[in-house]
Amino acid sequence: MPRPFWSVCASYPLKMGVLVDAREVLMTPDPRAKANRARQMRREWLSKKTIGSQPSQLPEQPARPSEPKLVAPANVPRRRLGSPEGRGALLHAVAHIELNAIDLAADMIARFSNHDQIDSKDVPDFISDWASVCDDEARHFVMLADRLDELGVSYGDHPAHNGLWEAAQTTCDNFPARIAIAPLVLEARGLDVTPGMIGKFKNVGDHVSADVLATIYEEEIGHVAIGARWFKYLAKQQPLSPESYFHTLVKAHFRGRIKSPFNTQARTLAGLSRTYYEPLAEN
Ligand SMILES: [Fe+2]
Ligand SMILES: [Fe+2]
Repeated sequence: MPRPFWSVCASYPLKMGVLVDAREVLMTPDPRAKANRARQMRREWLSKKTIGSQPSQLPEQPARPSEPKLVAPANVPRRRLGSPEGRGALLHAVAHIELNAIDLAADMIARFSNHDQIDSKDVPDFISDWASVCDDEARHFVMLADRLDELGVSYGDHPAHNGLWEAAQTTCDNFPARIAIAPLVLEARGLDVTPGMIGKFKNVGDHVSADVLATIYEEEIGHVAIGARWFKYLAKQQPLSPESYFHTLVKAHFRGRIKSPFNTQARTLAGLSRTYYEPLAEN
């Protein structure tokens, strides 16, 4: 349950603060402008630490450009890395994930910072963590969009799917489930698949793209770690073990598959032990 409106905004002018800034990120359709707003939001937060008022309504879908066309996941063409076109298509798919990730971090701030399961004294830490994630995702998107430009591709040139946003959005009214699924299922999956992708780019001699992905990979470990930290914070407030709580939430709220093999090393670094994900795995 959100706290009463007045409890967060009494000392701040309306229409100011990080919660409203996060909503503005969600409402910005142009991808590079969205990334700029995300980065600006973090700078403002770090310099002023103003929470401000709870936005009255958050969009079910974030604002997006008219391209790329969104299609069913099965209709996204397969990407082969042998050609520059194939490399461009794969990087385009990753850029689309990063754009979703900007919105997911902004939504985490705007929707859940004011949740009554976060103690008031911990709210600034929660916002700092997700503003930092949002800033990283914005930088990741821009790095990929710049690399796509170098390969003669623009973001929007290839079809994409909306599966990531839809998977997270089923938890828009369940804070612990959102933390379980967005960082600890979806972003953790990125840790499993990215090293293989980096290797494929290296194998075809595209070391520039491989380096971009390697930077992203390193920083994504930190995002899963932030998710794990806040999940454990919430898990302490209920009687189940953190692992059993995670299993219950994922089974109830995630319709996709939890696929192995897992990148156990990176997941462990992020604070996610095997006991969280192995019992849920489908081969
Ligand atoms: Fe990212
Ligand atoms: Fe991330």
